[in-house]
Amino acid sequence: MNWQDGYVTEIPYTQGFYHHLSPANLDLCLLTKQVKSPRLDQRFTYCELACGQGLTTNVLAAAYPQGEFYATDFNPTHVAQAQDLAQATGLTNVTFSDQSFQEYLETDLPPFDFISLHGIYSWISGENRRVIQAFLKQKLKVGGVVYVSYNTLPGWAVMAPIQKLMQFQRERSTGTVVERLKTTLEFVELLKTNQGIYLQHPWLQSRLEQLKSQDVSYLVHELFNQHWHPLYVDEVMTEMATAKLNYVGSAHLVDHVDAFNLTPTAINHLTTLSDPVLRELVRDFYLNTQFRRDVYVRGAVTLSGEAQVSRLQNMQFILTVLPNLVKLEHQTGAGQVQLQASLYQPVVEHLASGAVTVGELVVRLAPQGITLQQIGQTLIVLTGLGYAHPVVGNGAQRERFNRVIIERAETAGELQFLASPLIGNGVKVSHLELLLLLAEQRQQPAVEFVWQILSRRGLQLTHEGKVLDTPEANRKFLKEQAANFQHQGRPLLQQLGI
Ligand SMILES: C[S@@+](CC[C@H](N)C(=O)[O-])C[C@H]1O[C@@H](n2cnc3c(N)ncnc32)[C@H](O)[C@@H]1O
Repeated sequence: MNWQDGYVTEIPYTQGFYHHLSPANLDLCLLTKQVKSPRLDQRFTYCELACGQGLTTNVLAAAYPQGEFYATDFNPTHVAQAQDLAQATGLTNVTFSDQSFQEYLETDLPPFDFISLHGIYSWISGENRRVIQAFLKQKLKVGGVVYVSYNTLPGWAVMAPIQKLMQFQRERSTGTVVERLKTTLEFVELLKTNQGIYLQHPWLQSRLEQLKSQDVSYLVHELFNQHWHPLYVDEVMTEMATAKLNYVGSAHLVDHVDAFNLTPTAINHLTTLSDPVLRELVRDFYLNTQFRRDVYVRGAVTLSGEAQVSRLQNMQFILTVLPNLVKLEHQTGAGQVQLQASLYQPVVEHLASGAVTVGELVVRLAPQGITLQQIGQTLIVLTGLGYAHPVVGNGAQRERFNRVIIERAETAGELQFLASPLIGNGVKVSHLELLLLLAEQRQQPAVEFVWQILSRRGLQLTHEGKVLDTPEANRKFLKEQAANFQHQGRPLLQQLGI
């Protein structure tokens, strides 16, 4: 067997940062489920398996100086990128390795408080899943937390035959992996004229269109691996049980609020199911779930109701977007959901001016008849939607990390996250915003500085879907963007300790 083990290595995976993997997010998930989690205000250990190019681990290492981070990915091209960023940014609390899961299992590592696996568990063989189970059993501390995401059934059931056909064709086609992807996508599209499977499942047409618009690296890693096994939630629960792990809940916080996701009929049905595994499985049928982000613990210590309330009241939250960007209307499994303005607006207003404890929010909102329970649920939804976040640090900055990311925007645009030790998470920043930050860093006049970089690299800005094709139009648009950023985006980043 070669080291690739059926996994794609011809082109690197996309450089992504995944905020669900942050200790702060996992901590909030556990708190909502009344389960004790490892402390984040003291030294802790964190491991990411299959870290890709390592952006998530690097950003988290920058956001948690008190954490000790380890990560592996057997593709040395990925790990070289990860190490390069760690070295350039001077991170001393992260260690990357290019070992396979089996080799990492045999390596001397500290016991971990957190182990995360994103986008890997359903793309490997059963044998490799068993190696991961052994790793979790051997390397996770008692009370430790696991994050595992995977492609899920029934959501992928209809696409499975298409993936099978693409895989079959991939092995028989020639050219680079990108050329083969193009050929196989064209091939499966041909079937549309034959109607059969597309007639039975009209949804496949739009799914295929959606796939074609996605990043090539993502598609190759999503669909071209030899092993591709979407899993039912109960199967993963059984496999995790071999590592003595119990399911706690979803790392995607809005999943915790049934009314946000499910119709009243579905909620009523689910409440009649006393078996928690069956309930979770049936929930996936109601939602036709395609992807799960699950949190497990090894030995759950249940928090009493009072302990949960006390921790929540002492937690601070902060807004992570401008207040006017908080949308109250969302499309979910329950249809068009309208969040209650009389509840969400006052909470958002109070968070907008800086970090506030939940206890303080309760006092401020009591005159409006808003209760602690309502505030708690509102904060879970706001955090799950990316509008708010718990505060976990004291704001002490890791300036060098963000400075290097900002510097790199001059020559490349793919690293679009900065580290916020205040919230213990990454913050999405566009390429243009990074260039404006670079102008600030170098104390240069923003518009001319950014335009020089863009024009040198042959880049043009787009506005309302149209490419701005003259220098004047680019400069004019840049001027507006720079002014907006100065008044809105920049103060928000400052508030987040960046
Ligand atoms: C889809 S990517 C996900 C990367 C990263 N977690 C992310 O979400 O950006 C899966 C990664 O798993 C790595 N991988 C696959 N099989 C592996 C194995 N047996 N041991 C270590 N890494 C493996 C691949 O090299 C690839 O980078």
